[in-house]
Amino acid sequence: MDFENQIINGDVLEVMKKIPDNSIHLAITSPPYNVGKDYDNHNDKMDYQEYLNWLNEVWKETQRVLVPGGRFALNIAPTGIKDFIPIHHDFTNQLRKLGMKFRTEIIWYKQTMLKRTAWGSWKSPANPHVVPSWEYVLVFTKNGDKLFGNPKEADITAEEFKEFSDGFWQIQPERQRNGHPAPFPEDLIYRLIKFYSYKGNIVLDMFGGTGTVIL
Ligand SMILES: C[S@@+](CC[C@H](N)C(=O)[O-])C[C@H]1O[C@@H](n2cnc3c(N)ncnc32)[C@H](O)[C@@H]1O
Repeated sequence: MDFENQIINGDVLEVMKKIPDNSIHLAITSPPYNVGKDYDNHNDKMDYQEYLNWLNEVWKETQRVLVPGGRFALNIAPTGIKDFIPIHHDFTNQLRKLGMKFRTEIIWYKQTMLKRTAWGSWKSPANPHVVPSWEYVLVFTKNGDKLFGNPKEADITAEEFKEFSDGFWQIQPERQRNGHPAPFPEDLIYRLIKFYSYKGNIVLDMFGGTGTVIL
């Protein structure tokens, strides 16, 4: 397969169409959140339905390229404070409708309490607001739960397995990297790859950004 070990710079849907069926063991990504981030080549403020329709095409391609038993770890922030849209529920419903199995959600606790500036109504029940200090990693599987592989190629330690199988992951968020507004912290990806794949598996990030998954 000549797409392995490559950084392919291009539009997500055009590039994914070139990836063969049933060839990826683990997809990990964080799509643009449609919150008006300043990306060079992407409108991050689409009409919400248009945004969902676009991503639905990406989910279809993801399902197609995954091997049976392959996993899709999808990082997304919870309900925005501006519009209160439960985007993580919408993504989950889209993927389930396509036939992917919703396997779990990991809470990535970001410990960003100090940065909080929005409280709704201060000290009043009139309209208090819970500001999310976490993000989700929604995990889906294709065609059953089991990913076949050589047990000798599982390189997670017992300590790591115990820690990562508790779905509450405390990881400091990454600050801006090379001008990118929303990079993954490396530890988040380390855990997902160790927990969900064998050595030698093929991992895809279709919205690669600064390339944390590739690293
Ligand atoms: C939330 S960021 C991902 C950041 C990444 N996880 C990292 O660690 O750097 C989403 C990325 O998707 C990219 N993107 C937006 N529209 C795209 C498209 N049509 N095709 C490919 N990538 C796109 C953006 O440029 C941005 O880097």
